[in-house]
Amino acid sequence: MRIKRIFVDTQMKKDDNMPILFDTFPKLEANIPWIRLGPMNTPVERMGKLEDKLELDSLWVKRDDITSPIYGGNKPRKLEFILGDAKKRGYKRVMTTGGFGSNFCVANAAMCKEIGLKAVAVLVDQPMTSYVKKNLLFNIYCGNELIYIKKKKRLKWIKFIKRIFNPKTYFMLVPGGSVPLGTLGFVNAAFELGEQVKEGLIPEPDHIFVPSGSAGTVAGLVLGIKLANLKSKIHAVQISSYTGYEGIVKLAYETWELMKKYDETISDVEIDNLIFERKYFGDGYALPTDEGIEAIEIIRETENLELEITYSGKTFAAFLDFVKENREEIKNKTILFWNTYNSIDVSNLIQNVNYKELPKQLYWIFEEDIISKL
Ligand SMILES: Cc1ncc(COP(=O)(O)O)c(C=O)c1O
Repeated sequence: MRIKRIFVDTQMKKDDNMPILFDTFPKLEANIPWIRLGPMNTPVERMGKLEDKLELDSLWVKRDDITSPIYGGNKPRKLEFILGDAKKRGYKRVMTTGGFGSNFCVANAAMCKEIGLKAVAVLVDQPMTSYVKKNLLFNIYCGNELIYIKKKKRLKWIKFIKRIFNPKTYFMLVPGGSVPLGTLGFVNAAFELGEQVKEGLIPEPDHIFVPSGSAGTVAGLVLGIKLANLKSKIHAVQISSYTGYEGIVKLAYETWELMKKYDETISDVEIDNLIFERKYFGDGYALPTDEGIEAIEIIRETENLELEITYSGKTFAAFLDFVKENREEIKNKTILFWNTYNSIDVSNLIQNVNYKELPKQLYWIFEEDIISKL
């Protein structure tokens, strides 16, 4: 019922068959590949109970946890462009890589299944988190062909695997699909937010909080926010050591170059709206922090939203600290938390899936007594 309500009420009046980006820059449509993967225009919601708890006025969430009715989160936005490219170029199979709990690999598999492509993922070790088991089983359900390699030997093996899968496979081996093409998904998301501001669904955000892993999400947002003439500052919360401030800015400019190549009217931009928050990273990628765990509990209690420890929990911890520490300055400001974590429940789909369909080296995840973290 809940999903039905959300997808009927997407808040957007525009014909949502095409990315808003193509409405704004029509020359891109002829040159940039794209395929529709879901309703995508996600609601902005006021976090009223949190506002009451903190005695603040304008705290919001962008519900990218429901970008797609099949598997939400930030990945479908990037995959609309990446898989559009794979389809347009006639590929039948798409290979991704990531940790064995990777949200990107599983999102790719779910979206490929929807549009009739095969998926294959090269998985490497990562710290254990609660969503690893669920993602692995959902990978099997979606027909993702899984290859496991030890992290240390990754590069050597990937070269070898590529040779075997060539030439019929589309390789998306940049973590998280954070290439300029995938990043366009979040340039588009910024324009979507701009429309919501124009329609009066949310005041123009002064500050936006978003996780930064492989950087495509935040790079797309900083660029899109500039091109859409919004004033928001983007707080990129570090959740991996993959890239930092410079990497994000570089990817944003590369994405701008891709757009400019096909539409010379696109204005010059200066990426000066990025704040890189290092403080919430803790001891490393996917390792929980006390603040992250506490933040997860707070948003669950107040807004009934589920986050996780790796990305969204740490980001929401940064959001909470910011609003508490700057209480006076932000009294008349709007602060937006961009929820990038899938909230579509796949438990019914995976209940009969057997983990023994995984590569043998991953059986331990289901057989050992692992302490499950949030
Ligand atoms: C839930 C979630 N949020 C945020 C991110 C970070 O996005 P990006 O890799 O584009 O920085 C990821 C990446 O895997 C993710 O799974």
